[in-house]
Formats: sequence, C-alpha cells, structure tokens
Amino acid sequence: RKHIISLEDFTIDEYDAVLTTASSFKSVLKSRTKKVPALQGQVVANMFFEPSTRTRSSFELAAKRLSADILNFAPGTSSLTKGETILDTAKTYWAMGANIMVIRHSNSGVPLNVAMEMDRLNSGVSIFNGGDGLHQHPSQALLDLFTICSLLDEKNPQLSLLKGKKVAIVGDILHSRVARSNINSLLAGGCEVHLAAPPTLLPSLFLETINSSQKKRLFVHWHLKPALENADFVMTLRLQKERMTDYLLPSLREYHQLFGITHERLQWCNPEVKVLHPGPVNRGVELSSELMDDGKYSLIGEQVTNGVAVRMALLYLIGN
Ligand code: CP
Repeated sequence: RKHIISLEDFTIDEYDAVLTTASSFKSVLKSRTKKVPALQGQVVANMFFEPSTRTRSSFELAAKRLSADILNFAPGTSSLTKGETILDTAKTYWAMGANIMVIRHSNSGVPLNVAMEMDRLNSGVSIFNGGDGLHQHPSQALLDLFTICSLLDEKNPQLSLLKGKKVAIVGDILHSRVARSNINSLLAGGCEVHLAAPPTLLPSLFLETINSSQKKRLFVHWHLKPALENADFVMTLRLQKERMTDYLLPSLREYHQLFGITHERLQWCNPEVKVLHPGPVNRGVELSSELMDDGKYSLIGEQVTNGVAVRMALLYLIGN
C-alpha cells in the first residue's frame, strides 16, 4: 500500500502489522535514546489545512523519532493566501524532496485527490490522510485500536483480541470521521459495535456502506442505556459545533443529560469498562469532567501517548 486514506479496505494482516510495529516502537520510545535511524534522509511534509494539536504534533514527533526531516506547513502564512492551489502546493513540496505528506482538510476527498495526482506524476510520494471532512481519520482509529488491543494483551496486541467485545460509540457520529474509521476497524476485528446518538446526529448513508456480514454486529440506538449495557469500551466523540447548522446543534446541557458519560452511567457497563475520547473534549458535555481525569476508567492520556508509536509505525511501514 502506497497511501493510507481510509480503513474501509484495510486487511487483517495490515491491522496486525501496524499493531505489532507500534508495539516495537512503544518500546523504543520507553528506551533512553527514543530514536531510530529508520527514515534517515526522508522528508515528511505535515500539511494541515485545518486546526490540529494531537495529529499534527504526533506525526511531527513520530517523524523526528524515526530520524526523518519534517516540513511543517501553515496555510495562513503560505502561498495559498496568494491563490496557489492545494495540488500545486503538494507538487512544490515534492519538488523540494518530500517523500511523505500528511494531509488534513475540512473537505472529504482532498488527501485522495492529492494521492491520485502524485500517482499520475509517478512521484513515489505517499499520502497519509490526517483527517478529511466527514470521511476518515485512519491514524486516530489505529491508535484507538492499539490502545484497546494493548490493554487486552500488552506484549502481543492483535486485531483478533477484539472478537466478542462490545464497544459503544456515543455522540456526534454524523460529523465524525473518527467514528467512521473506528466502525471499520472494530467491525473488522469482530466486535459488536453499538452506536448511540440523537437521531439527527447519525449518518444513515454511511451506515448503508457497511457490508452485510459485518452489519449483523452493528446496532443503532437513540438512547444511551442499551448501548452501554455490558459494554467493554465506551468511545465518546466531540460534538463538532463548527460543522453543525443551528437546527442540528443540541443544547449542550440537554445533550449531557441524555448522552453524557458519567461515573453513574458507567455502572451499566462491564465493571472493567474503559472510556476513550479522540480529543479535543468539550469538558462536561461528552463526558463529565471528573471522568475525564479519572485514572481508573479514562484512556484519554494513553491514546495520546500511543499516537506517537502508532504514527511511527505508519510512517515506517509506508516509508520503507
Ligand atoms: N483527535 C484529533 O484528531 O485531534 P487533533 O484535532 O488535535 O489533531
């Protein structure tokens, strides 16, 4: 595979290769040197046309830990402001020697479009989707997967560990590229996936794209309790206010009352339940502030830490 745009067609072998490689890099990150020469001489261009803290910084750190050189692109101070197109911007970075481009954009399809142009030019450049519109956020779902599988077996995280687990995905699924990528990976791993959201925040068209054998393990709820009952993992999602028109945006207080995850509501779940959130969090909306900082249930810090090892794995696997 030359590019990572979507998890829709990821194979079990590819998931396992990412998990195993990330596990090795997690050991490197715990070592004294924290660095390997694997991508020495390669150039990674971080092209974020939309704000980011975690994805941009962890791709940057991952590239540095692999000894690659990194170009950070800031749209507001770039020649985009003079009318240069995204494709011409990508060609400019290619001409400077970029081998890998990580692209985030508010429009679905931009990373794929750049990948097709780079292939048409036989550039050899690899494109990573750093999150495009409402489409996909593959590296986030892969770090979520690694976080869950490492918890189930730290030494040997494999996709098959998910078989039979119940995962609830709660919140603004309609606007969530993270949810779409997670639904793909969790169903591929054999989970039961339970979506819980107000009906206005569910992506009915996307759900139609799930293949019929996997669809048997995908459940949609307009209420929280059936999704949470006996769940092993609860994935919460940010209410993406910036993508909502007024008539879709629920009152934040009402949303928290109906769908907010609290210590009290976790009593419906498996006693060992863990809570994830891709960040950034609307504190006190998707989950209570106490739960967010809770060392017993929350995996939010672990997700961020694992993001570096997983992105090292992705750059390594594609860059070699
Ligand atoms: N989860 C995520 O994509 O966070 P950032 O927007 O901070 O990159």
